Amino acid sequence: MAKAKRQYVCQNCGSVSYRWQGQCGDCSEWNTLVEEAPQTSFSAKHDLSRGGRMIKLESLNQDSVMPERMLCGIAEFDRAMGGGFVAGSATLIGGDPGIGKSTLLMQAAGKLAMAGKNVVYISGEEAAAQVRLRAQRLGFSQAPVALASATSVRDILATLETQQADFVVIDSIQTMHSDVIDSAPGTVSQVRASAQELIRFAKETGTALVLVGHVTKDGTIAGPRVLEHMVDTVLAFEGERSHQYRILRAVKNRFGGTDEIGVFAMADDGLGEVANPSSLFLTDRNQDVPGSVVFPALEGTRPVLVEVQALTVRLASGATPRRAVVGWDNGRLAMVLAVLEARCGLQMNNAEVYLNIAGGYRLTDPAADLAVAAALVSAFTERPVPAETIAFGELSLSGEVRQVAHDGLRLREAAKLGFSKAWGPSGMKGVKGIGVNGFSRLGELVDLMLGRD
Ligand code: TYD
Ligand code: MG
Repeated sequence: MAKAKRQYVCQNCGSVSYRWQGQCGDCSEWNTLVEEAPQTSFSAKHDLSRGGRMIKLESLNQDSVMPERMLCGIAEFDRAMGGGFVAGSATLIGGDPGIGKSTLLMQAAGKLAMAGKNVVYISGEEAAAQVRLRAQRLGFSQAPVALASATSVRDILATLETQQADFVVIDSIQTMHSDVIDSAPGTVSQVRASAQELIRFAKETGTALVLVGHVTKDGTIAGPRVLEHMVDTVLAFEGERSHQYRILRAVKNRFGGTDEIGVFAMADDGLGEVANPSSLFLTDRNQDVPGSVVFPALEGTRPVLVEVQALTVRLASGATPRRAVVGWDNGRLAMVLAVLEARCGLQMNNAEVYLNIAGGYRLTDPAADLAVAAALVSAFTERPVPAETIAFGELSLSGEVRQVAHDGLRLREAAKLGFSKAWGPSGMKGVKGIGVNGFSRLGELVDLMLGRD
């Protein structure tokens, strides 16, 4: 047999090269290549057409049973999961350190155990005593959760074989190591091999498996993207550590939609559910300040009202103005600025522009364009937008205001929270309690805001 070649695996993207390099050729990260044991390769002498067993081929047209789902009883968690945990499935929860992953999973484990499920919690990061302390703080000291501090996948599997667990938490997958592979814990091959064995066990036994994953600075789950392909569901736990609220978002879900979010607030006794997120994001709102506009964002089928804040600072000509964005897309801000300049005659090219979505919220909804434009115009002209107004609509490069999905849902949520006026695309229908002002072009809104006719 040919001698296996040395191979170097990028710890960021998982790509393999046969030569050590300072920079990964695929993802361009520096110092991420680590030598790892080569995988066993097939000998060319294998004739794959002989010696296999026949597999049974089935038709599409057959009664299939819907997979069994298990609700953990934390409604926001079950909602993000698309209606509970599926037996025999693997879920990956990623998030920054300290965001509350262990807290959330201990709460889910505690609730499930109290409801009579067989629950096992394996911590590879903390000693059992530490985990126990957290459980006590969360009010689950009496919950029959089976707890262990361990990192060897072989030992863990040997233990799980005897448990018939319904729900298993592995906190975290980066601390696990499998002895079928030589590399050190935390490397891509180790994480992949450990996950593979645990997932296979979950599928075979019908256990709902949850893996906790750390997140790298660019927001992907540390090490291999491959992990995301191996599991059925990927959830991201997000939020600013300095703010109390957290959002659990499905990034991938083989058993449900990826558009629902769960909203939580971190308190002294764990993560509380936030059934009405809009009120949370608007609590500290300073009304009648130029540059502040409320935007009804849509998360799946759920409207969330957030405050868009803009600040512009005019510079003496010559200096290069800064543009900084928190919580929104940089490129989209540049586009809105260009549309304001080219189509509405607002000269912002020598003003510094800062845009912030209040509360550390991250907006992905394209309907935010109009709210951002209104906030920028308001900041630039120092005219506050009336406090009872919301704004939404997508902008095109020609300055048109486009229709967006679910305007009725957005308007109803705003009306519920006491807003009485909406700026949006022309053609939207009003709902009870809220008057609508539709625009087909951004210029019309700018005229209105500046009192030009
Ligand atoms: P943790 O769940 O350990 O985060 P992760 O597993 O994602 O690293 O939670 C970390 C933070 O949450 C920590 O700073 C303490 C805080 N916390 C609370 O505020 N209240 C609580 O009830 C608990 C358990 C933790
Ligand atoms: Mg943790």
